[in-house]
Amino acid sequence: MSARGAATAEPETRANPLREESVTLRAADPCTFIVFGASGDLTHRKLIPALFRLSKQKLLHPRTAIVGFARREFTDEAFREEMRKSVESGPPSSDWERFAERLHYHSGVFEDHGAFRSLGRLLGEIEEKRGIPGNRIFYFATPPSEYAPLTRNIGAAGLAKRALREETSAPWSRVIIEKPFGRDLQSARELNALVHLVFAERQIFRIDHYLGKETVQNILVFRLGNGIFEPLWNNRYIEQVQITVAETVGVESRAAYFETAGVSRDIFQSHMMQLLTLTAMEPPARFEADSVRDEKAKVLRTLHPMSPEEVARDTVRAQYSAGALGGTPAPGYREEPGVNPGSQTETYMAARIHVDNWRWSGVPFFLRTGKRLAKRATEIAIQFRQPPFSLFRSAGCEMLEANILRLRIQPDEGISLSFGSKSPGQELHIDPVQMDFYYLTSFGQDPPDAYERLLLDCNLGDSTLFARRDEVELAWEFMDRILDTWRADPALPMAAYPAGTWGPAEADELLHGHGTHWHRL
Ligand code: BG6
Repeated sequence: MSARGAATAEPETRANPLREESVTLRAADPCTFIVFGASGDLTHRKLIPALFRLSKQKLLHPRTAIVGFARREFTDEAFREEMRKSVESGPPSSDWERFAERLHYHSGVFEDHGAFRSLGRLLGEIEEKRGIPGNRIFYFATPPSEYAPLTRNIGAAGLAKRALREETSAPWSRVIIEKPFGRDLQSARELNALVHLVFAERQIFRIDHYLGKETVQNILVFRLGNGIFEPLWNNRYIEQVQITVAETVGVESRAAYFETAGVSRDIFQSHMMQLLTLTAMEPPARFEADSVRDEKAKVLRTLHPMSPEEVARDTVRAQYSAGALGGTPAPGYREEPGVNPGSQTETYMAARIHVDNWRWSGVPFFLRTGKRLAKRATEIAIQFRQPPFSLFRSAGCEMLEANILRLRIQPDEGISLSFGSKSPGQELHIDPVQMDFYYLTSFGQDPPDAYERLLLDCNLGDSTLFARRDEVELAWEFMDRILDTWRADPALPMAAYPAGTWGPAEADELLHGHGTHWHRL
């Protein structure tokens, strides 16, 4: 989605100083990625595979290095072998061997200042050896509780260069911080204030990997790049919007984190709010980072702030009980390893949200997300209003189904539009039919992984697809009213739904007043 002038510049061909071979470069500067939490799940599952693919596609500068930092003891060799498990088995491929040269490891504790001084020495050596002009990307792939000590120690050890002027000149430093960014408005503000002591805002890349998904970037292209849809995108033509992020996975091995977060903090405050703002925002003045983020922030400012009564009426929280997925029995949330048997953490959340502005007045946005639901599917469904006059009533066709535009974020990435069509025959029958677009059939490939795009954008200094300070704080401001009410009012129930279903009956009731129901996915 981002403008990325630099990335789309003509590729240049240069001699690789390390391997004496010719490679095609994009304009990404040589730098060092320093990954904190290098032995963790995110590094294994997402970061190393994404960096490896970028390297294979020659989108990383050949001099770029990666330094893993974690508590566990590893030699560089052992770390490389451990990381290789994330991307391939069998004998090492030549692509891997080229990539592995980039990888280094430093063992240390995030709270230990000395470990950061020795990290600084290691970075200096690597930069000198590889000819990296001191550009650094610090990646916080750790539990959120480590963000503060990491920031303090990076600052105290002088590892980052604070950008003072508008222009970013080498050497530059950037930091990528995973969500959840804080656990409420106050902690997000405190964290922002702390990170700002070391980094200027344009050096801070608050990552929400949903923004790196092709299908999410396509929301704006679809809305604003097609004359046919743009005029319809408002309360005159749209009746309601439904946004669903449904997962079949449960809490997996992340109970310690999830117990403190719940889906409200893990998914709703970040991924769902991003989908909502991209769906509802006004066209930006320009297609560049700050204009886009200005408009997203404006949507968050216009969200109707819920009173405690509205929280009770317009939100639902629930936990999965024992059930089955695809015929396989699944335990209830409270029986999962590491979960408190009396846990009050929600694994499902639904809400009716109003965007109080000119464009959306009167259009409800229904949002739902949950773990252990019947199907993995993320979708934005735009339901259009019925035609003003029921012309076919006389022929017995009373209620036609509403036209629904579905932006399928994942899986089966694509877009479909349903409309009524006369079914062939002498009598007048109107049946719903669909026009469908699939990424796979239209472009011959599935969309690339979100992390690849985001890591490259950060390397290029493009923050369009990252959350700005005000966005994160505004999203918390909205969420705090819900979370505070849930916490303060023990009378508000924690509903239940069997694993493998579509969530609790209470969530269906949110839509009843609107004469509608959750769309089937
Ligand atoms: C992460 C959440 O941000 O997103 C996980 O922490 C969730 O709980 C994941 O499973 C979903 O991502 P995706 O890309 O699989 O939809």
